[in-house]
Amino acid sequence: MAKRIPLVAGNWKMYKTPAEAGNFTRKLLEKFPENSSVEVIVCPPFPAIPAVALKLAESRIGWGAQNMHWEAEGAYTGEVSPPMLQALGCRYVILGHSERRIHFNETDEQIRKKMKAALSYGLRPIFCVGEDLATRDAGDAEFFCRHQLDAALMDLPWSNPEALVIAYEPIWAIGTGRTAEPADAVAMISQLRDRISSWHGAEFADRVRILYGGSVKPDSIASFMEEEQVDGVLVGGASLNLDSFIDLVQITAKIKATA
Ligand code: PGA
Repeated sequence: MAKRIPLVAGNWKMYKTPAEAGNFTRKLLEKFPENSSVEVIVCPPFPAIPAVALKLAESRIGWGAQNMHWEAEGAYTGEVSPPMLQALGCRYVILGHSERRIHFNETDEQIRKKMKAALSYGLRPIFCVGEDLATRDAGDAEFFCRHQLDAALMDLPWSNPEALVIAYEPIWAIGTGRTAEPADAVAMISQLRDRISSWHGAEFADRVRILYGGSVKPDSIASFMEEEQVDGVLVGGASLNLDSFIDLVQITAKIKATA
């Protein structure tokens, strides 16, 4: 079985000015554990990316964006393109987050175009899937998330399993303080991996990292990280606080190192 590198990704959403982000990043570097076996990235809002990039340039911590347009340039007021993110050194870009689907009406079709663009520019998407509570209660969660995966990725040119990351983020767990049961996350992640395996083979699927996200905190992360199928976390609220973010990284490193 492939050894997947655990990933702790901070999604800062619409928090932190450039000055606040720069400050946070400086302190993060001071406290960051040496030789951690965990990959760590932060995804600041667009205006804060340069300040973060400047601080993290010589470090092992990466950075990414929270969204992008699929075109390289054009008359798209308010949008940011893949080459612009590349120029800021972004390694990752979060795509298909439920807040974008819900508040900005992003469609599966648009997300698919963004996925395609990210892959072609060598930006690694952190592609989010997740159901709402009504869908889960109706017993349709796995069907729903598989559909989101299919809509974004089926038949897309995707030749390197490490070129993208998937995050299972149940909508009812985001920012609510309520996490999914680790067993539910594992069931979901396994079926997403099976789906990828049906397209690209088991060896390929075994190398794709799939994260959990939704109210992950230092006191809840261990139960997810102890699951072999869960390759890391996408964290909103708890990534904004320095101590809790460091705790998340340290707990992940400890558990995955002995796994
Ligand atoms: P949360 O956000 O950790 O605050 O629930 C997760 C996310 O939206 O990625």
